[in-house]
Amino acid sequence: MTDIKCLIDAINVRKSVRSYSRRQLEEDIADSVLRFAASLEQPISGCRARVELVHHDGNDADGEKLGTYGVITGCNDYLALIYEESDYADVNAGWFFEEVLLYCTSIGLATCWLGGTFKKSSFLNRITLEPGEVLAAVSPLGYAADKPTLRDRLMRMGVHGNRRIDFDRLFFCGDAEERVNDGNVYRKALENMRKAPSSRNSQPWRAVVDGMTVRFYHIDGASAFMMLDMGIGLAHFTLTCRDEGLLGAMMVEEDVPLHEGWTYLASWQGF
Ligand SMILES: Cc1cc2nc3c(=O)[nH]c(=O)nc-3n(C[C@H](O)[C@H](O)[C@H](O)COP(=O)(O)O)c2cc1C
Repeated sequence: MTDIKCLIDAINVRKSVRSYSRRQLEEDIADSVLRFAASLEQPISGCRARVELVHHDGNDADGEKLGTYGVITGCNDYLALIYEESDYADVNAGWFFEEVLLYCTSIGLATCWLGGTFKKSSFLNRITLEPGEVLAAVSPLGYAADKPTLRDRLMRMGVHGNRRIDFDRLFFCGDAEERVNDGNVYRKALENMRKAPSSRNSQPWRAVVDGMTVRFYHIDGASAFMMLDMGIGLAHFTLTCRDEGLLGAMMVEEDVPLHEGWTYLASWQGF
């Protein structure tokens, strides 16, 4: 079992890497990633997500490459995120895959969530989907190049990949107008949620702390991958709660306070 501290450290150093060194992914390292994924419990009961490793050696008879439209360079190994369609399946999948990618970071691998800039057909040719399953996203798996390519740097600049919205504009107390104090029991977990990756760096997570309850909302219409983003944020939040010894459970409440421009998703009920 991986020490939770390693995953928390990974939250602090992780960033999307699009330029890879061409160093081959060792078999035992790939195996340890797959073992970690297999050991994870599904974050939301009733949902099912899994990963498959996809390798491309460039010698396929059809000559087709694992396409990322030139976004990823120097990497032949990818993890594919697959989930079974059901309620909250995409939130669960985002949460699950982020835990796997944080594990990858913790053992020195570089990763990058790809929801849009990959050629689905070339990946679908190399994985086996069961009925009801969908391929949601992929991530390259390898070692970061010494220097990012120009395209990589431009992409980071394009989405302001290093920037995050101010904490006080994401997370609130009371009626969503008060700030979350530095000493609030959930401060660290929310700070780590803020560090999460999101599609086009859209950061759709909003939360209101009400005593031991934290209500999570997403902003309306952020991106097609918003539910994956929400799951990723919840992974960072709940891992940090576990690390801090904060017990609780996720649940969906009825009649929650509504806020303009936000849609309620779920609540953390601490105990
Ligand atoms: C669900 C999801 C989908 C993403 N899809 C893409 C993508 O298609 N192409 C890409 O280059 N980056 C993609 N990203 C990476 C984001 O652009 C990146 O996480 C964000 O800019 C923040 O940068 P950071 O991960 O370095 O903190 C995606 C991220 C997430 C969470």
